[in-house]
Amino acid sequence: MFTTPTLTVDLSAIVANWEQLRRRFAGDECGAVVKADAYGLGMAPVARALENAGCHTFFVATLSEALSLREILPDVRILVFHGVQAGEEFSFAAHRLIPVLNSRTQIDRWKPIAAEHVHAVSALHIDTAMGRLGLQPEEFDALMLAEPKLLESCRVGLLMSHLSCAPTPGHPLNPMQLALLKAASRHAPGIPVSLCNSGGIFLDPEYHFQLARPGCSLYGISPQEQAENPMRPVASWQAPILMTRTLTHNQTISYGGAGAATAGARLATVASGYADGYLRGLSHKAVGYVGEHRVPLVGRVTMDMLVFDVTEVPESLTQEGAPITLLGDADGIRVDDLAGAVETIGYETLARIGARVKRIYI
Ligand SMILES: Cc1ncc(COP(=O)(O)O)c(C=O)c1O
Repeated sequence: MFTTPTLTVDLSAIVANWEQLRRRFAGDECGAVVKADAYGLGMAPVARALENAGCHTFFVATLSEALSLREILPDVRILVFHGVQAGEEFSFAAHRLIPVLNSRTQIDRWKPIAAEHVHAVSALHIDTAMGRLGLQPEEFDALMLAEPKLLESCRVGLLMSHLSCAPTPGHPLNPMQLALLKAASRHAPGIPVSLCNSGGIFLDPEYHFQLARPGCSLYGISPQEQAENPMRPVASWQAPILMTRTLTHNQTISYGGAGAATAGARLATVASGYADGYLRGLSHKAVGYVGEHRVPLVGRVTMDMLVFDVTEVPESLTQEGAPITLLGDADGIRVDDLAGAVETIGYETLARIGARVKRIYI
């Protein structure tokens, strides 16, 4: 009997998505972003599968993510978006991790390490519109004027920037960012450049440069806002039925008495809730699937349980332990739709799926 909620992750679909992106990308190399536990799906199995498929460059956010990845994959290139924080320098050097240098402080921190270790290469981040991390273009110009050997002294092997509106091809910030990065790259002849996340790969090839950094599209999230999602579905979340019963009288359902069901309705209570990342905002809005049957969620999402109306489903499919699909790209609940219902994005929907939901890899 099925007793715990599960998230089934189709690794071959992730690999197929990476291959699709690699074919589409006009530059030299397509890497993979596996930060935040591969957007909630599990960094270790995802990264292993991608490496087996030929991916050699991985991106994470933090040193601790990089160290976990290094244990699994000793030979790949690992870049760390947050860069090198105080006290982390030697871990970066010892484990051949590549910091993305985001500020003057990080640059100064890295110089002595780069001077000492031949393999201590770095990437340099130019902030062309995101306003989070990176040198502003004018700051970079001034720095290069003052220190023409800066790139050598930090062993900069990659110049990068991040698009803020890549999923929207017509957005005016895209060409502006492109122009700023092109201008910055004139200081770095011969150094490869990386601009594209998932959405960027679907922009004109002049955005592509040498190295791509897709994340969301690997995991089945649409890389473009207004176009059909070309990526293969990857994840499916199923929760077991704890109990099914037929109401003998009209009744309110769940907290606040805000849900209602009538006598004769058959309701199934399943084991997942907002503590598992099923967003509370989905209350009254979401649907699940029992096989082919679409079942509406009744009442509010609670911490550990959800109630679905299974009146229309054959009883044999709704016994204790039978699964209800909460998220299943392949089963009609695409991650972007579930996210859209609560005005969030697929990234958050996946990244929030909690530890109680057992990951199964196929
Ligand atoms: C710097 C950077 N590059 C690449 C990515 C991957 O972006 P996406 O998931 O949209 O492909 C991210 C994601 O947040 C990022 O922060």
